[in-house]
Amino acid sequence: MNNTLEAVYRTDFNLPDRREGKVRDIYRVPMEGRTDPVLIVASDRMSAFDVVMPTPFPGKGRLLTEISLAWFDRIRTAGIIQDHLLSTDPADVPGLDEDERASLEGRMMLCRAAEVVPIECVVRGYLSGSGWKDYQATGSVCGVELPEGLQNSSKLPEPIFTPATKATEGHDENIDFERACEIAGTEVMTRLRDLSLQIFEFGRAYAAERGMILADTKFEFGFALDADGNPTDELMLIDEVLTPDSSRYWPAEDYEPGREQDNFNKQIFRNWLQEMCDRGDWDKTPPGPSIPAEIVSQTIAKYHEAANRLGS
Ligand SMILES: Nc1ncnc2c1ncn2[C@@H]1O[C@H](COP(=O)(O)OP(=O)(O)O)[C@@H](O)[C@H]1O
Ligand SMILES: [Mg+2]
Repeated sequence: MNNTLEAVYRTDFNLPDRREGKVRDIYRVPMEGRTDPVLIVASDRMSAFDVVMPTPFPGKGRLLTEISLAWFDRIRTAGIIQDHLLSTDPADVPGLDEDERASLEGRMMLCRAAEVVPIECVVRGYLSGSGWKDYQATGSVCGVELPEGLQNSSKLPEPIFTPATKATEGHDENIDFERACEIAGTEVMTRLRDLSLQIFEFGRAYAAERGMILADTKFEFGFALDADGNPTDELMLIDEVLTPDSSRYWPAEDYEPGREQDNFNKQIFRNWLQEMCDRGDWDKTPPGPSIPAEIVSQTIAKYHEAANRLGS
């Protein structure tokens, strides 16, 4: 019997079209009489600086799935936009044995397959990360002019839409809205920008009630496929949503502009990695170093705290 609390680093199910993201494994699930859905499995892999680490972070995939599912539900219930979720029940995935089904418990989403819009729909309410870097260099982020005198972690006058390319290799690149329109079409991008800002506003109000600042986040959207695998005009929110992997959440009680904030995500672990790099022990290229147990458990504790605070 498979202990369902065991870490799941990598899955290898007998299902077609296996793809491996940095964190998730994706399969096509053949089904009679409907468009084949996709099975998305959140593994316990951890990535940083776009490199997948060799050490699993046990339970991380479940926590991310729990947080995502709760948000999909809230966003759907609020009538903002439909999403790709069909089922979270391993029994709905045909052709797996008992151990495989057990390993999926709490970390799978059976989803409507999408033609993914190849733009990362980033919204920022605060200046941090690549936004802060771009602002220091140019006074703007993704072509959005910002007032002078902002600091690291400053609150922006209003949330801004700052798209990025979805790079299949290497790092995502910040682009301006016009460039995003060239890639995905002006009509589509206008809809996605408005939706992204709307979901962000909804998410940040909810998080604020729970003592968390939603500083920024990234959404992905796609068009549902028909039975022949062609895209329809049915737009869906896909991927993961408002998780600590796709978002910066800060504890409101410690917020102070002018410095980096504590983060409910992999920050502890990224800091540890950065120290390795500063010492010359790692250069941000694969393979990643193996991670000490205490860094793993401290990081998992942060994800737990995020899930608890968000009440998912
Ligand atoms: N409903 C969907 N249909 C097709 N692809 C999807 C759907 N939802 C998410 N995806 C894709 O599945 C992948 C999720 O795996 P992930 O580990 O996050 O990959 P990445 O390393 O590209 O971030 C992403 O490439 C995402 O665009
Ligand atoms: Mg991803």
